[in-house]
Amino acid sequence: MPASPARARRSPPALSAPARESLHGLGACTRRALLRAVATLLPLFWARPEPAAAATDAGSDDTAKRPQRGDALTALEGESRGTPLRIDALEIGAPPLLAVPMDPESGLIRDGSRLNQVRVLRLPVDALNAETGRYAAEGVVAYSAVCSHTGCPVSEWNAETRRLVCPCHGSEFDPAARAKVENGPAPRRLAVLPLRERDGRIEVKGGFRGKVGFSLG
Ligand code: FES
Repeated sequence: MPASPARARRSPPALSAPARESLHGLGACTRRALLRAVATLLPLFWARPEPAAAATDAGSDDTAKRPQRGDALTALEGESRGTPLRIDALEIGAPPLLAVPMDPESGLIRDGSRLNQVRVLRLPVDALNAETGRYAAEGVVAYSAVCSHTGCPVSEWNAETRRLVCPCHGSEFDPAARAKVENGPAPRRLAVLPLRERDGRIEVKGGFRGKVGFSLG
């Protein structure tokens, strides 16, 4: 029996097989795009600049660029902010300094992303393992200050064990062994920023080695 006009209006039009495949593909793409967006945006939440830093360099995207080869390092805060960090300013075994990269020519400080923050410390050269020595400048090493577990700041230092400590869930990293995880739930070591010495100051030799921040899932 033929469908009534009202029923015919409610029935969706039949789709051809290619059209159904296209729609299915579109759904998969949308899901993938959504997952990618979440994965991108969540770290950005953690990477929001400190209010003071944002005010200092507002309007310049270069402040959020990852460390560049040839950059200097400078203290994130305090009187020495804006001054290139010198190797002899770091005492061996002293607590790590919170630093960010800086273009030595323009003076631009790359503090527009928390993912650029590093913990810088100096250890005896012969205390570093061979791998760590390749990234160090006269015993000075720099590691990402963002914990690989869920992104908290790696803000504490155990002077007795000489380990970097994340206070959120107690992960500990050995800076003499390429920030290997020694304790706690962190799934992997901290990213290391390769350094070299240039005229007594610390210079960035290249981009981070290892993943900066944390992963979902
Ligand atoms: S976020 Fe660092 S230990 Fe959990």
